[in-house]
Amino acid sequence: MVNRARTIGSKWVKTKVLLLNKELRRFVPETRVYSQSNLLQMLNKHKMVYVKPNNGSCGQGVIRVEKNDKYRYQAGKIAKSFGTFQGLFAALSKAKLNRSYLVQQGIHLLTHQKRIFDTRIMVQKNTHKKWETTGYIGRVAHPRKIVTNFHNSGKPLPLELLLGSHLKNQQKSDYIQSLRHLGYRIAKHYQKSYPGFKEIGVDIGIDKHLKPWVLEVNTAPDPFIFNQLKNKKMFFKVLRYARANGRFLRAKRK
Ligand SMILES: Nc1ncnc2c1ncn2[C@@H]1O[C@H](COP(=O)(O)OP(=O)(O)O)[C@@H](O)[C@H]1O
Ligand SMILES: [Mg+2]
Repeated sequence: MVNRARTIGSKWVKTKVLLLNKELRRFVPETRVYSQSNLLQMLNKHKMVYVKPNNGSCGQGVIRVEKNDKYRYQAGKIAKSFGTFQGLFAALSKAKLNRSYLVQQGIHLLTHQKRIFDTRIMVQKNTHKKWETTGYIGRVAHPRKIVTNFHNSGKPLPLELLLGSHLKNQQKSDYIQSLRHLGYRIAKHYQKSYPGFKEIGVDIGIDKHLKPWVLEVNTAPDPFIFNQLKNKKMFFKVLRYARANGRFLRAKRK
């Protein structure tokens, strides 16, 4: 059954697949099922965490929680702070959607003009049935939001531009190459658990030390985000591969 799955919704399952791989697990932020005690332990350890719906998408329901001199959370553009953990937890129970959640080590993402950004790496099977990284793009968050998703007021931009104030020339292209290769390695690994998959889209956050972190693996990645780039070369390739992989067949039959 598992082998024939076309998509996996559960972020928890997808995280556990990554953790099976010794080389890849160091790129995965610590992740646990959300509960009062897990939230408290994760806040004490990491000071900043992301609380997100296990089956979410488009950044919906994603909450950033911090512990400094106070406890603080932000969901959408709304931020609130609390003197006690109990106060925070009670408010979060109301703010959360009524679904199962995860709590994940928060990554202090790089910024571009004071806005956080992350990256989406697209990896697809080519006509020779080999994995190939076909697209990469940066996504800048709305200035007052804590998620970068395009469908949550994020702005897709060329990764070269966003990395421009952090890396230059050859270093920058080598770095992008390493992200592309990380996407490829993740696809190869996913293949072992899910041989039927032909496309994945990896959300990679980059911290202040330029270490990449895998925030999420998408098993039905949106090809159209690449249409946001002025240069259409990447988009056309991604679309060509998506068609060849039968991405749009099911939608048409409906
Ligand atoms: N652990 C984290 N650290 C920092 N930012 C995160 C973290 N997890 C998620 N985010 C931010 O929230 C966005 C949405 O989270 P993600 O896990 O990709 O869920 P969704 O399915 O809603 O896209 C990410 O693209 C990123 O901008
Ligand atoms: Mg995502």
